[in-house]
Amino acid sequence: MLDFKENISLKPYNTFGIEAFCSFFIEINSIEDFMLLLKTDIFHSNSKLIIGGGSNILFTKNFNGLVIKNNIKGISVVSENSETVIVKANAGENWHEFVMWCINKGYCGLENLSLIPGCVGASPMQNIGAYGVEIKNLFYELEAINMNNGKVDVFNNAACEFGYRESVFKTKHKGVFFITSVSFILTKTQNLNTSYGAINSELAAMKISTPTIKNVSDAVISIRNSKLPNPREVGNAGSFFKNPEVPKEKHEELKLMFENLVSYSLPSGNYKLAAGWLIEQCDLKGYEKNGAAIHTKQALVLINKNNCSGLDVFELSNYVIQKVFDKFGVSLEREVNII
Ligand code: FAD
Ligand code: EPU
Repeated sequence: MLDFKENISLKPYNTFGIEAFCSFFIEINSIEDFMLLLKTDIFHSNSKLIIGGGSNILFTKNFNGLVIKNNIKGISVVSENSETVIVKANAGENWHEFVMWCINKGYCGLENLSLIPGCVGASPMQNIGAYGVEIKNLFYELEAINMNNGKVDVFNNAACEFGYRESVFKTKHKGVFFITSVSFILTKTQNLNTSYGAINSELAAMKISTPTIKNVSDAVISIRNSKLPNPREVGNAGSFFKNPEVPKEKHEELKLMFENLVSYSLPSGNYKLAAGWLIEQCDLKGYEKNGAAIHTKQALVLINKNNCSGLDVFELSNYVIQKVFDKFGVSLEREVNII
């Protein structure tokens, strides 16, 4: 039985805590529910937006259409041998709880991705990543229903065309697939990646010399808590912009002008710049307009500081893009999905 709601507030469904209304709203608890939904007039006569945890969405207006909240739960082991295990999680599982489930079983691989908000089903959308790991490193396959014909499709790693915060689901298949489950291939032996950023120093501060999977997860959680705002306390969607990539020549030019430039070389010969550093250099940390603000501990994060609208956040993002461009000649691209 499908329980459509009409004209409801999406404020509880987005981590920015922005007020916006949708014409119709439906929660999907099983694939059978979704197959029923495909047969309804409401589905066919409305534009559609799928949401999981709403932690990478900014509503700049009401959504005049059908919002489909994916709530399909379940985690299972698909196959295993003495070294590896394939674990499948349904799309409505909370990402962090799924990571914790894997850690408790002793399955290694996802620990650096601890505490990323949202649901499993959204994780392939932008190939979520943190602390030197992206899901493409561990991704096995996903199942998705094509909303145009109701057929179930399976995408392996190559078919997703994962890139930095990119996949086919944001580009050529945008708005076509309802992802129902995602599988990951994990190891049963410890294969830890502690090389990125502050993980090792955090482990040292925790007085841990031979870390376990859980220790690495705890270190990541501690670092994240020290700079990223908890969406339950302050509305936000994590990094608002991507870290921009520039060619070698542009990097050299910037390095001459700004000797403290924070950048990382890429295998392609290009460089990735730390957008948070660029924004901070424009003296924008803590800058606030109309209740939308730039987080004081991490300039890449825009926050709903004082009951602002989605448009206020969007306008602030335009201002940031302009300021960074004026100072560095570098164009920032938004990571957050703008509705
Ligand atoms: P939503 O915001 O609900 O949706 C995001 C997009 O995916 C939308 O386009 C939506 O239509 C689509 N979508 C969602 N579910 C499905 C589905 N089942 N089928 C098809 N399409 C779907 N991201 C990182 O990569 N790394 C980080 O370290 C990180 N840190 C964050 C920290 C904070 C404090 C916050 C608030 C966000 C952070 N993010 C990070 C961003 C965000 O958590 C991820 O992008 C997450 O995967 C979004 O999941 P969600 O379920 O909330 O997606
Ligand atoms: N920096 C500053 N000022 C700031 C913020 C950052 O100078 O206000 C500089 C610092 O020098 C720091 C460097 O930028 O060393 C990188 O900062 P940080 O380690 O915080 O990472 P980030 O590049 O800002 C990225 C991801 C995050 C992810 C972290 C950890 C993007 C867009 N963001 O942030 O992902 O958690 O690395 O791996 O790639 C997200 O996508 O929502 C997200 C939070």
